[in-house]
Amino acid sequence: MAPITFLECSRCHQHLTADQPRTVCPKCSGTLYVRYDLDAIRASTHRPEPGGVQSMWRYSAVLPDVEPVTLGEGWTPMLQSRRYPSLFVKEEATNPTGAFKARGMSAAVSMARHYGLRKLAAPSAGNAASALAAYAAAAGIEAHLFMPKDVPLANYLEGVAYGAQVTLVDGLISDCGRMVGERIKAQRDEQAAGRLSAEEVWFDVSTLKEPFRVEGKKTMGYELVEQLGWEYPDAVFYPTGGGVGLIGMWKAFEEMEALGWVKPGRRPKMIAVQASGCAPVARAFREGANVSQMFENAATFAAGLRVPKPYGDSIILDIVRASHGTVVDLPDTVILNSLLDWARHEGLLLCPEGAAATAAYDLLIANGFLKPTDRVVLFNTGSGLKYTDMIAEAMQLKRTVQEPAKPYPTRTPVGGIITPV
Ligand SMILES: Cc1ncc(COP(=O)(O)O)c(C=O)c1O
Ligand SMILES: [Zn+2]
Repeated sequence: MAPITFLECSRCHQHLTADQPRTVCPKCSGTLYVRYDLDAIRASTHRPEPGGVQSMWRYSAVLPDVEPVTLGEGWTPMLQSRRYPSLFVKEEATNPTGAFKARGMSAAVSMARHYGLRKLAAPSAGNAASALAAYAAAAGIEAHLFMPKDVPLANYLEGVAYGAQVTLVDGLISDCGRMVGERIKAQRDEQAAGRLSAEEVWFDVSTLKEPFRVEGKKTMGYELVEQLGWEYPDAVFYPTGGGVGLIGMWKAFEEMEALGWVKPGRRPKMIAVQASGCAPVARAFREGANVSQMFENAATFAAGLRVPKPYGDSIILDIVRASHGTVVDLPDTVILNSLLDWARHEGLLLCPEGAAATAAYDLLIANGFLKPTDRVVLFNTGSGLKYTDMIAEAMQLKRTVQEPAKPYPTRTPVGGIITPV
């Protein structure tokens, strides 16, 4: 595993040490990136061989040098579509807690345990909370989760079952984030007044407000390139809420180029996919803006995309533009149609966020942005089984009880003789 050389602010580029837990840049509040000595890693380490560790920790050469808290996250299947031979689905449903959020939380909780943190808190659209709850339970650390009250039932249930403190909020993830921030500020005030010990103060693992969730999520970039024979695809479709995976994958591509692990070629077009009911990044992209505006009245059944103002919006927009990609948004009706299309024709029950990506693929093929022969990796970020309540509601699916069929006679009397069964 790699010693961290420093943390670097994504905005003002100042360097900080990693010898203590850090949230964001103290000068400008920018997200902090973890930096390693890539030249030293290049000189001493080869890219992973086939076989080996079957989790995201196969990339331990470029992950922090700590004892991992692992539940077997990552190294997920890359499935070729049955209908579109150039389209590959990165099937994140097989992760612990059924979603890609496990990767980020495995890394963040590993580091929290390393730093001796006892209480972690996060606002979440749902799946990040489930993953934090599971990894915190595995590490013996307390988790405090704040989620919208209409979060998918599975996320609420997981939080409670894993023993986390769950607060359901009458609002969106942005309101949850504000509440976590206020609670931590109040705790710090108590600590300053000598009424609370340092270890009682929660540590905020909000999206892009601590450096290690990106490190976990970047393994998606390493994996997809390795699974394509250490080559870039032409495009990557990523359902974007907070954008951690997209930011993480771009970081992975940068690192892999510095390490000489990827065959030289053009980086993939990064396609950020949103739901039309909450599309702050799509709107900013279309308007040529560098940051997004708060998306009012955000509503979509793709719960993970209900992030009305992502903290990393400017980073997402920079990456999409640098990659010659695009941002698209699709209405829930189109997302649901794509979800059912993939269930019926490919045998995959995508999560609504993943189905937004498949719908976006259809759109970008139809409008010529991509060719059917372009090699595309599309992220199904979680299992549709985590959304049975939301999908059933979108389908207006009602359970009906049918009259039992008339019992079929098991023995047929013929001329008074009972025949063998
Ligand atoms: C299933 C699913 N897909 C996509 C996302 C969006 O992820 P990100 O915040 O990395 O953009 C989420 C976030 O909650 C999610 O749960
Ligand atoms: Zn800074």
